[in-house]
Amino acid sequence: MLDVDARTSERFASKFLKQSAKFGYGEIPNRSQREVTKAAFSRIMSTQTDSTIFENSGHKLVWGDALQVLDGAVADASVDLVFADPPYNIGKSFNGRRDKWPSDEAYLEWSYQWIEVCLRKLKPNGSFYFMCSTQCLPFFDLYLRKKLTVLSRIVWFYDSSGVQAKRYFGSLYEPILFCVCDPEDYTFNADDIKVEARTGAQRKLIDYRKPVPSVYSSTKVPGNVWEIPRVRYRMPEYEEHPTQKPVALLERIIKASSNPGDLVLDPFAGTFTTGYVAKELGRRFVGIEIEDEYVKVGLRRLNIATHFKGELLVKPLKSYDSGYSEKETTPMLLDK
Ligand SMILES: C[S@@+](CC[C@H](N)C(=O)[O-])C[C@H]1O[C@@H](n2cnc3c(N)ncnc32)[C@H](O)[C@@H]1O
Repeated sequence: MLDVDARTSERFASKFLKQSAKFGYGEIPNRSQREVTKAAFSRIMSTQTDSTIFENSGHKLVWGDALQVLDGAVADASVDLVFADPPYNIGKSFNGRRDKWPSDEAYLEWSYQWIEVCLRKLKPNGSFYFMCSTQCLPFFDLYLRKKLTVLSRIVWFYDSSGVQAKRYFGSLYEPILFCVCDPEDYTFNADDIKVEARTGAQRKLIDYRKPVPSVYSSTKVPGNVWEIPRVRYRMPEYEEHPTQKPVALLERIIKASSNPGDLVLDPFAGTFTTGYVAKELGRRFVGIEIEDEYVKVGLRRLNIATHFKGELLVKPLKSYDSGYSEKETTPMLLDK
């Protein structure tokens, strides 16, 4: 493991700021924010023109703007599986960067650009999992259909304990498109993801059509509605991020659509759940994230670095842990 500590790259910092303002969707940083960002670049391992890359044991974490850095970070036709969980254009705040484009058209235009780059990175037998808001699904479904074969339209269903809609039917799912480059040649490890085949009966169902009646198979490949709880504060896997995806969701996807040693790409890594699971399952991983707070999470979860910006990377205590203090666990942008 590395203690990330290297030279300052002011040139990189200002170029990065200009680019993220151009291609991102947040505000252009004010003067003091620029100083903070420059300080953030003072202890980094290595810089390329557009990105900072951290690597360890076949896993690569790229700090930068996906659209800008994807090409340099990953070779064409080298990726077995892409899992893409981009900003949904619904106004969430990712560490202060607002997930909102001026118009649907602007959002779609940006999305189609990075999707095209991802598709170029896929091997001819590769798979592409794409998450989006329910509102935008029709656009992406139509778009991806022209480029790939959409094999499943998955509904990730979860119950919500939060505020419930009172004047319409509240949203309890997120769509995931499962697409492949070649429907005749793609990885699908059915046996690795089987779930219990529930019948609702007390005893096992008997198949009387067989010459010797026998019990029906008790496991099956999951259907396209996946009931997996969202990540909650009290779950051990919880990280401070508004849209963290559950380990169980990524386990199913990575087990089904890749093999040990394969390369998995996540262009919007967030808390690096994809990388964490890929590593646990013996796959190689490349993840890109623009926000330094989440890069810290990724460096820790993937065991790539012990320190970042002089800060020891430890998981923040929860409010119910002994030794918790609100002051100590407040996320810091600047070194003290
Ligand atoms: C929906 S979240 C991904 C959550 C992730 N799947 C997880 O399990 O934590 C989208 C992430 O993309 C990041 N992001 C937004 N714009 C980006 C860009 N242009 N390049 C790279 N990352 C970006 C955000 O900071 C956010 O963490």
